[in-house]
Amino acid sequence: MSKTVAFHLQKGGVGKTTISGTLACQSALEGHKTLILDCDPQGNLSSWFLKEPPKFELSDVLQGRCYVGNAIVAAPELENLSILPTFGIGGTLKNYSETKLSEEPFILQDLVKEVSEEYEHIILDLSPGLGRLERSALIASDEIVTPMTPEVFSLDGLEIFIDELAKLKKNMRASVKHNKIIINSYDERIRQHRDIFSAAESSGRFLVYRIPVDPLFRKAQEAGRVPQLYKVRGRGMKAATQQAIMDLDSSIWR
Ligand SMILES: Nc1ncnc2c1ncn2[C@@H]1O[C@H](COP(=O)(O)OP(=O)(O)OP(=O)(O)O)[C@@H](O)[C@H]1O
Ligand SMILES: [Mg+2]
Repeated sequence: MSKTVAFHLQKGGVGKTTISGTLACQSALEGHKTLILDCDPQGNLSSWFLKEPPKFELSDVLQGRCYVGNAIVAAPELENLSILPTFGIGGTLKNYSETKLSEEPFILQDLVKEVSEEYEHIILDLSPGLGRLERSALIASDEIVTPMTPEVFSLDGLEIFIDELAKLKKNMRASVKHNKIIINSYDERIRQHRDIFSAAESSGRFLVYRIPVDPLFRKAQEAGRVPQLYKVRGRGMKAATQQAIMDLDSSIWR
């Protein structure tokens, strides 16, 4: 059975793309056929993994300019990982979402259904915000996992997201699950990080995960590589980061 997961919070720079990409790689490494839908008009995830500019993008599929199978491309290094990309530069997803998407809010849900025969795990990367495009992507998902950084106001941002998501689910009759949060770029030595983790956990509303701060993510992104396979001067991902990714992977897909 196929499962679709979006990593989302309306706030920018919390690790949505890093976590979506790394979890997609982990799923592929574990042998599952995995597809990334790059729903961010900036196309960061696509430029991370694709060296060559692809012929078609997600927006072409949504606008009926090509078949979905013609737009999906294989990611390098991992045979089980594929991407339905978005062009960051010169792409048409932003324009499509601002003009035509309002007439077809379920189009991403339909697309996910179409590819779900072929892929076990589908991961959506979204841009920050809660506009039309993000809403369509959220209701196309079976589960939303929220990454956040351990900063002042981060828990306020989470509350806003919970409220907005409740309204969206009600209006769109959607039943998407939301019971996991990830405190990203976590540093055990910093008291504020420990306090935010404890506050999130003690609310009892969420399963709370932590991903350590690890410079390897940025280096792997700059090099266009899979973080789990990338090494700089013989050093790869921290053991604690690898463990956190594996724990999250098994908890999301089990
Ligand atoms: N655990 C981490 N340790 C160290 N750096 C990280 C970690 N997670 C993310 N980063 C870095 O933080 C920056 C922002 O991450 P990312 O692009 O994934 O955030 P985002 O939520 O997708 O941003 P946007 O809202 O712009 O789409 C990137 O440079 C990334 O390499
Ligand atoms: Mg991003």
